[in-house]
Amino acid sequence: MTDQTRVVIFDTTLRDGEQSPGATMSHSEKLEIAELLDDMGVDIIEAGFPIASDGDFEAVSEVARRSKQAVICGLARANFRDIDRCWEAVKHARRPRIHTFIGTSPLHRAIPNLTMDEMADRIHDTVTHARNLCDNVQWSPMDATRTEWDYLARVVEIAIKAGATTINIPDTVGYTAPRESADLIRRLIETVPGADEVIFATHCHNDLGMATANALAAVEGGARQIECTINGLGERAGNTALEEVVMALKVRHDIMPWTTGVDTTKLMHISRRVSTVSGFPVQYNKAIVGKNAFAHESGIHQDGMLKNAETFEIMRPEDVGLSETNIVMGKHSGRAALRAKLKELGFDLADNQLNDVFVRFKALADRKKEVFEDDLIALMRDQETGDAHDRIKVKFLRVICGTEAPQSADLILEIDGKELRTTSQGDGPVDATFNAVKALFPHEARLQLYQVHAVTEGTDAQATVSVRMEEEGRIATGQAADTDTVVASAKAYVNALNRLLVRRQKSDPDSDVKTVSYKDAG
Ligand code: KIV
Ligand code: ZN
Repeated sequence: MTDQTRVVIFDTTLRDGEQSPGATMSHSEKLEIAELLDDMGVDIIEAGFPIASDGDFEAVSEVARRSKQAVICGLARANFRDIDRCWEAVKHARRPRIHTFIGTSPLHRAIPNLTMDEMADRIHDTVTHARNLCDNVQWSPMDATRTEWDYLARVVEIAIKAGATTINIPDTVGYTAPRESADLIRRLIETVPGADEVIFATHCHNDLGMATANALAAVEGGARQIECTINGLGERAGNTALEEVVMALKVRHDIMPWTTGVDTTKLMHISRRVSTVSGFPVQYNKAIVGKNAFAHESGIHQDGMLKNAETFEIMRPEDVGLSETNIVMGKHSGRAALRAKLKELGFDLADNQLNDVFVRFKALADRKKEVFEDDLIALMRDQETGDAHDRIKVKFLRVICGTEAPQSADLILEIDGKELRTTSQGDGPVDATFNAVKALFPHEARLQLYQVHAVTEGTDAQATVSVRMEEEGRIATGQAADTDTVVASAKAYVNALNRLLVRRQKSDPDSDVKTVSYKDAG
């Protein structure tokens, strides 16, 4: 690379992010996120792990076929079968890349039970093989930050000689700290023969909350590719957040003189989309894209802001794609106004889609005095999570709750086109409702997480509910929004169940999900 001030942004939301338990995205969701990343100016999109499943392979292939500017990368372990499969998927891209990796630290070397020399040979052979297929090859020594220095330098040299064009140095377990991160990259660049002919990349996990600082420090040390994910999605505590490194480089260009090709005004929209499709809500006080990131609550702050926005703001909301006013809509707002508002929020709807949303918007506006942007986003999310192909649908719910136990729920579900009704009791209205779902559709899935958020202020606020369920190692998340928290809970639970059924069928295509018994309690 000639321009030493340019930092390449490598997004791995669709691979490392999607690996996060419960964050699995559907095929069409992956295509949509890839398109948003490409349009936003991300340089490289790691679209998946093609050998992992047929679904992953199809998704990477399709992302590759549809790619515009971005390099499309697939992940492969250090064996020929993985690499061949990866190439079969990414080769459709205008600019394909194979990313192959192996764990080089003592703990990781013990897993394939290879000696240091055997692993070095394996690295040579697999990188050579990848390079024979593709002229853009990235190699990663997984757990690099816990690999012995001499061995790390030795294998990096081997990978460069075998033809790797990018060397990624992962902090797989989020163990390093900023100074060490910078020093490691600097030392590799200074000492490994051939280092000046490749790009060094940094890939940091956030276990100690230092991923962004470590990635930026690595750039100080000479790395010119940052690997990151939208909203910092990723295994355990996640990866470096794309929005954080990109905005840090933009806002503090005075002390970090590197640029990226990312259009930052698209950050907010993609953050919301990734949150929706992954089912991982964005923490309210998350830097850059959190709901409160630009909110000024206290009197002193508000006073200062009114006099001069720079008093408390180091970046403008518009820089990250947040419109300045949270314009209110009401029941008198028409179709055109709704379409325009949704477009501004990043939802470009066809006429028939708009009709459906409009009906729901009117129903919401009847129940709520003011409909805020966040309400519309919640409405769109809810619209998208419910799918015409869902096997289970909530048709009716009435709960009795209050100080006198027992609380009970009278529920009608449509299951495979047939309406079933039951009344169940429980420890509170939500428990009673979930018991009713279970009575109508018996299942072994375990509820792992139940979360409620108020979308806006006020007692008439919509609630968004997230539910995570687990069944034999398969995890699915469901979300729903409604001004009635119990209705939102029922829909979110059913949404998670529907996703679990799809997942069950995918992982065991021979199992006939239709044979899952449910009792006609009507
Ligand atoms: O964290 C890690 O080490 C990885 C590698 C596969 C690059 O994600
Ligand atoms: Zn990782």
